[in-house]
Order: sequence, then C-alpha cells, then structure tokens
Amino acid sequence: MSWFIKTFQTSIGKKLIMAVTGLSFICFLMAHLAGNLILYGGENAFNSYAERLHAFGPIITIVELGLLFLIIMHVLIGSVLFYQNTLARPIRYKVYKSAGGRSLGSATMPYSGFIILAFVVFHLINFHFADKTGTTIFQIVAKAFENPLYVVIYIAAMIVLAIHISHAFWSLFQTTGINHPKYTPIIKITGIVISLVFGVGFGFLPVYVLLI
Ligand code: HEM
Repeated sequence: MSWFIKTFQTSIGKKLIMAVTGLSFICFLMAHLAGNLILYGGENAFNSYAERLHAFGPIITIVELGLLFLIIMHVLIGSVLFYQNTLARPIRYKVYKSAGGRSLGSATMPYSGFIILAFVVFHLINFHFADKTGTTIFQIVAKAFENPLYVVIYIAAMIVLAIHISHAFWSLFQTTGINHPKYTPIIKITGIVISLVFGVGFGFLPVYVLLI
C-alpha cells in the first residue's frame, strides 16, 4: 500500500497509472466494439450475444466494478495532473513544444477526457440502466437511435474519443519509456489506426441502426 501511495505522489507514478488504466480501457473498447458489431447481424444475433454475455453473471459484475474503478482512477489522476500543470504554468507559452510535437489530440487531452466522461454517463443511463422489463437490448438500442439527436451526439462523441485515443496511445508508450526513434513513427501510426477503427466502428453503428 505504501508503494502505491509513493507511486501516486510522483508525477511519473501518476502518468504510469494513467497509462495502465488507459490501456485497460482501450482493451475494454476493443471487446465492446467487437460485441457491438454483432448489431450488423440483426436483432436475434445481437440479443443472443447479450444473453450469452449476461449468463456470465457474477463475472460480468466483477468486470463492471473493475471498469468503474479504472474510470474513477483515470479521471481523478488526470484531473490532478491537469490542475498541477495549470499551477506550474499560469501564463501560456507563446510557442509550445511537447516531446511528440503539438497535435489536436495533445492540446485537448483534458477537455476531450471530460467530454468522454460525460458521454459514458449519458451512455450508461441510455443502455446499461435502461428499464429492461418487457423489452430486449436490441429494442432499447434501436429506440434510442430512432432519435437523430442521439445519433448526432454519438457521432460527435466518437470523433472526440478518436482524437483522445490518437494522442493517448502514443503517450502511454512515452510514459513507459518505449520511445526509440525507430519505433515512434510506427507507434504513432498504430495510434491513429486504432483511433480511426474506434471512431468509424462505433460511429457508424447509430447511423446503421437509424437507417434499418
Ligand atoms: C455506437 C456505439 C455504442 C453502442 C451501440 C453501445 C452499446 C452498449 C450497450 C447496449 C450496453 C449495455 C449492455 C447491457 O447492459 O447489456 C453498453 C454498455 C457500456 N458501454 Fe457501450 N456502446 C457504444 C459505445 C461505447 C463507447 C464509445 C464507450 C466508452 C467510451 C462505451 C462504454 C460502455 C460501458 C462502460 C458500458 C457498461 C459495461 C457493462 O454494462 O458491462 N460504449 N454499451
């Protein structure tokens, strides 16, 4: 426990926790996207996937509690780092240079993070905590995306998510010290590809559901 508190107190320790929690969330998103793509298979396929998932019972509850813990850690420590950076640099630099160069992702990390948090709360209210009596998960999703405003909100949130991950992926390698000049371009391109897969993969689903 004292190891954890010491790690938490140092700047690199906080960034390490950001990297580990962020990477875990990227893994969750990969699994979540794979599951959601079953929506293209139609109502029966998606409902039977959801039923099989819920059949895991307590394991799902443990995973959900783990996810909640990861989100809380990521948001809390991200907020502390943001606050400390603001205190350390009350006047903005005229010319800003970060190790990987200035990008839309790097410049907007805390803001995109808060938008994603707001989206996750909105999303859980829509789908996870929706009243599921006498209906199916497919019907809940289909009813939500009947509303074009929801579709717009989801697409906008997926663009923000893609921007956040495009920088986050590169950043987690920097934090863990994997930043050899030979591999950095590959890591950056991989980050962009992953963010595009998430942005396009999640972003097209509401449009598809609206159109069917
Ligand atoms: C169009 C895109 C998406 C669709 C259609 C979708 C669909 C769903 C559905 C149906 C559930 C409820 C599962 C259930 O209770 O049976 C759910 C849960 C969840 N979603 Fe999404 N999702 C999408 C995008 C995202 C994104 C981008 C994130 C994160 C940034 C996310 C995070 C979560 C979380 C944390 C849960 C709760 C996990 C759980 O219930 O075990 N989702 N999603």
